[in-house]
Amino acid sequence: MLPLKSKDLLGIEHLGVDEINLILDTAESFIEVSERNIKKVPTLRGKTIINFFYEPSTRTRISFEIAAKRLSADAINFSTSTSSVSKGETLIDTVRNLEAMHSDVIVIRHSIPGAAQFIGSRLKSRIINAGDGAHEHPTQALLDMLTIRQRLNTLQNITVLIVGDISHSRVARSDIFGFLKMGAKVILCGPPTFIPVEIEKLGVEVEFNLEKAIPRADVIMMLRIQVERQFSMLIPSLREYAKFFCLTPERMKLARPGALVMHPGPINRGVELDPRVADGPYSIILDQVTNGVAVRMALLFLLAGRPGADGNPAPL
Ligand code: CP
Repeated sequence: MLPLKSKDLLGIEHLGVDEINLILDTAESFIEVSERNIKKVPTLRGKTIINFFYEPSTRTRISFEIAAKRLSADAINFSTSTSSVSKGETLIDTVRNLEAMHSDVIVIRHSIPGAAQFIGSRLKSRIINAGDGAHEHPTQALLDMLTIRQRLNTLQNITVLIVGDISHSRVARSDIFGFLKMGAKVILCGPPTFIPVEIEKLGVEVEFNLEKAIPRADVIMMLRIQVERQFSMLIPSLREYAKFFCLTPERMKLARPGALVMHPGPINRGVELDPRVADGPYSIILDQVTNGVAVRMALLFLLAGRPGADGNPAPL
């Protein structure tokens, strides 16, 4: 088995195709652990995983906690409001204290792009980026890739349509890097104010008209409108946005048979996704959540697993 090349998982941009395949294949092997009656293996017994979330999270934080526990690691969660961060302690002082307690892996979500890289370059602990500002959300992209691969058997030569606020979306950035590396075609759609200038240079296509883009897609990835980040100058209103970009049952009539509808969550129902589509037969949104646990188990295993004689993690 090839190892991951870096100590940390900071993003998809610098991962190789072989590394992505390794993570996806390893995740696939972990799926059945969560389907067992007793959902636990001893793989990471004695390891300490700390989930450090400066921003709110349901899926990512809980799924990292479940992943660590299913591998028998000790999982500790903390947030800014219950830690000395609320008394003004700096990020680097906080994580140095965690490392002084012999953490093996620190999973961090932070509003500042580059926060994971900043601590990763200063600590021996392995760092996993659980979302850094508008930069990257690598574990989301990996679970997206796993979910699509499960359904379509491949990522090569498929067309993924990503709709929404591309400019502010760390999910979009990680997904774009991942899908392009794995040989998929990527079409971006949204109001011009949500699409970065010259993004085509990455190798993606831009289509501003959702009705024209939908029939070309094997996968329709709807992004959350990030009401907590500043966007009020970028679109007239959420109602106006929904009029042109909400995925409705009427618009789904334009889709290919078997097209997959995805969303990283949390969903703004009625803004980017009509509830009838979110809960309809095309939607694989909850499969994404299920696969998130397997992907995070794979990463914890690959980063924190006991090295074998060849320096690779020991077999399962
Ligand atoms: N997809 C995602 O990152 O969801 P959470 O913010 O709930 O973790």
